Amino acid sequence: MEDVNIGKLTSKTLEGRVALVTGGSAGIGFGAAKRLSEAGAFVYIVSRRQEQIEQASARLGTSVRGIAVDVTKKDDLERLAETIQKEHGGLDIIFANAGGGKPIAFEELTGEDIDHLLGVNIKGVIFTVQTMLPILKDGASVILNASITADMGLPGFAVYAATKAAVRSLARSWTTDLKHRGIRVNSVSPGVVPTEGYRTEQKMTEEQVADYAQRVTSEIPIGRVGTPEDIGDAVVFLASYASSFITGIDLVVDGGQTRVYAGKN
Ligand SMILES: NC(=O)c1ccc[n+]([C@@H]2O[C@H](COP(=O)([O-])OP(=O)(O)OC[C@H]3O[C@@H](n4cnc5c(N)ncnc54)[C@H](OP(=O)(O)O)[C@@H]3O)[C@@H](O)[C@H]2O)c1
Repeated sequence: MEDVNIGKLTSKTLEGRVALVTGGSAGIGFGAAKRLSEAGAFVYIVSRRQEQIEQASARLGTSVRGIAVDVTKKDDLERLAETIQKEHGGLDIIFANAGGGKPIAFEELTGEDIDHLLGVNIKGVIFTVQTMLPILKDGASVILNASITADMGLPGFAVYAATKAAVRSLARSWTTDLKHRGIRVNSVSPGVVPTEGYRTEQKMTEEQVADYAQRVTSEIPIGRVGTPEDIGDAVVFLASYASSFITGIDLVVDGGQTRVYAGKN
């Protein structure tokens, strides 16, 4: 099948906008930061490890700045808000993406596992958006990263999936909390996007990731797994004027995996 070129983002789409992407040193966050900066925004990326975030921002170019921040720590986020305010006078876009999870058998799930998952996937998202509120401009766009697991059963991912269902719910409630300021809040739900996290967090080998990607492709009508840039494109859409009548939704970006029958007729 021939590729259909449906057009390109231009560097004017988000010209003059300032964005924050949490978890921007790797995976989906990195791909989203790339797309947001290609669309003309200045992008702050944050993640915990200093060296990784500096390397990522160097790879992304001069309109991206990396700062070491743990989104579960309010103090880190307060310092970040001060820096953004001082350097750019406020924020137009937040992509609260930092998070993750690995399969844990129900019988083996510990209190520490639960605290960790709720900490980064829920508390981290709440702290990120809440701490940025004073510097968030009226009319801003907030995008939360959820997951297709929020409405699928997946063995070993029960708590992770529950945190992502919570993220979708936060987006809906904040839409009402922030509507008086014209701030739109939406979530994206990525499908299968093989990222660094498959190896670092889920402890899969390169071979296992390739194997999994190949197996799951038969369930995806578009015929391939996703890339971080696929999710980045959806983030740019939700950040831009093109989605100005859209708020409180969850945008599923999964190649049709969870919506459409992918088998043969
Ligand atoms: N990949 C998928 O198939 C998929 C599908 C659906 C949803 N998602 C969601 O997409 C998001 C990103 O996943 P990914 O696959 O891109 O993960 P990844 O490759 O593991 O990248 C995770 C990023 O988050 C950062 N991070 C982790 N904990 C953090 C914290 N407490 N504070 C600040 N930064 C933190 C990591 O850097 P440091 O370790 O240095 O902090 C890294 O930059 C997650 O919310 C995940 O649940 C992923």
